[in-house]
Amino acid sequence: MGLITVDQQVRAALRTALTEGDLLEAQAEREHYGHDETEDLRFPPDVVVRPRTTEEVARVVRICAEHRIPITPIGGRTGLSGGALSVHGGVGLALDRMDRIERIDEQNQQVTVQPGVITQVLMDAVAAKGLYYAPDPSSKGSCTIGGNLAENAGGPRAVKYGVTRDHVLNLQVVLPNGEVIWTGANTLKNATGYDLTRLLVGSEGTLGVITKAVLRLLPLPKASRLMLVPFKSPIQACEAVSAVFRAGITPSALEFMEREAIDFTLEHVQGINIPVPDEVQAHLLIEVDGLHEEVLLHECETILAVMETHGCGEVLFAQSSVEVDALWRLRRNVAVAVKAHAVYKEEDTVVPRFALPQLLAGVKSIGAKYGFRSICYGHAGDGNLHINILKDGLSDAFWQEELPKAIRELFTLTVELGGTLSGEHGIGLVQRPYMDLAFDRTQLDLMRGIKQLFDPLGIMNPGKVLPG
Ligand code: LAC
Ligand code: ZN
Repeated sequence: MGLITVDQQVRAALRTALTEGDLLEAQAEREHYGHDETEDLRFPPDVVVRPRTTEEVARVVRICAEHRIPITPIGGRTGLSGGALSVHGGVGLALDRMDRIERIDEQNQQVTVQPGVITQVLMDAVAAKGLYYAPDPSSKGSCTIGGNLAENAGGPRAVKYGVTRDHVLNLQVVLPNGEVIWTGANTLKNATGYDLTRLLVGSEGTLGVITKAVLRLLPLPKASRLMLVPFKSPIQACEAVSAVFRAGITPSALEFMEREAIDFTLEHVQGINIPVPDEVQAHLLIEVDGLHEEVLLHECETILAVMETHGCGEVLFAQSSVEVDALWRLRRNVAVAVKAHAVYKEEDTVVPRFALPQLLAGVKSIGAKYGFRSICYGHAGDGNLHINILKDGLSDAFWQEELPKAIRELFTLTVELGGTLSGEHGIGLVQRPYMDLAFDRTQLDLMRGIKQLFDPLGIMNPGKVLPG
């Protein structure tokens, strides 16, 4: 599919399908909706629509189907794989006006939301009723539930509570022909037919537009403890990770940050005062949560013993909510800090947890071979390592021609270690060329078949996920 422009006839039809003022055509608006957080990529749609209801979404999709116009669903634009970029122009379908929490069902501990709800807003609304929506991507203050569903977002708490997909009961979806379906039932168990709900989550807007979601809630944990554990050796820090679980503890977060990740972030974010001695080269940030303080204290003691056998330095326990906030701000701002300081490329590798030290060592040796610097951090408890490759003084030619080879090596290693290309950021636009490393032809053909069945015209977020 080449670049399709939206002509006057289609614009008129879209205007009629929407509430007045919800078709945006100005360049500044198109540019606003034409980027997410993926590198510095810019792909403005020809027009942006901001529907308010499922019916308006369905009308827009039917017009696009009739005229073969590409549609790109757009959430909070915090994505890191380019899933929301309108690479073929067409209609940018911004879901930010559909931002209502429709119903918190306290009896059944579930919530019905529209896709444009900001994740943190949902978390706060259910917390006010003693309930917990667990998935907490670093961008939770600005990402949306729709985007989280599309990309199957994770975050620090996924290690204990699972990723977005694990919290979805049922979805309302506008299919690429404009029909509206529900994918399942609002039940905790469902063994009825193929699981369309799980298929749609993580399909990156390529199979339909999610217009409503019924999500599972948990009781709000009453207490937590947070500790920052320094190490001289990043590899040793990674080795300590799987030992925590083998000691019988499942932390509610187990995060890894290389020295430079912290340095960049401390420089970028004001008001965090954490001394980092020169010899420290990595940190684990470990949280336990639950209902009983004494259980948490016991878990902290066990974790401390594990850390000490792996050669940690002096552990800092957060003593107040201010310190807890500071440590989480430090961790959650790494991506933003690196982006602010450097041209970089981000990978989202994931391996079985015990292979994490090998992955980290491999990343560094591939970096040494190709001559790039990387900053690694991420959700170590899940074996999910974010790798930020810095451009530094590398030439544009290297960046264009050699770096893809290096990334191919990184992903080859990841797959050899039993892992895969993306843990939580998705494939989107930028990881498509590497899908052959994770899947063989039979697997890719099955996926293409699914895409074809849902979207025979190929209008729904074209150019994403599946290799060309
Ligand atoms: C994080 C985002 C980048 O873990 O996934 O901070
Ligand atoms: Zn992450």
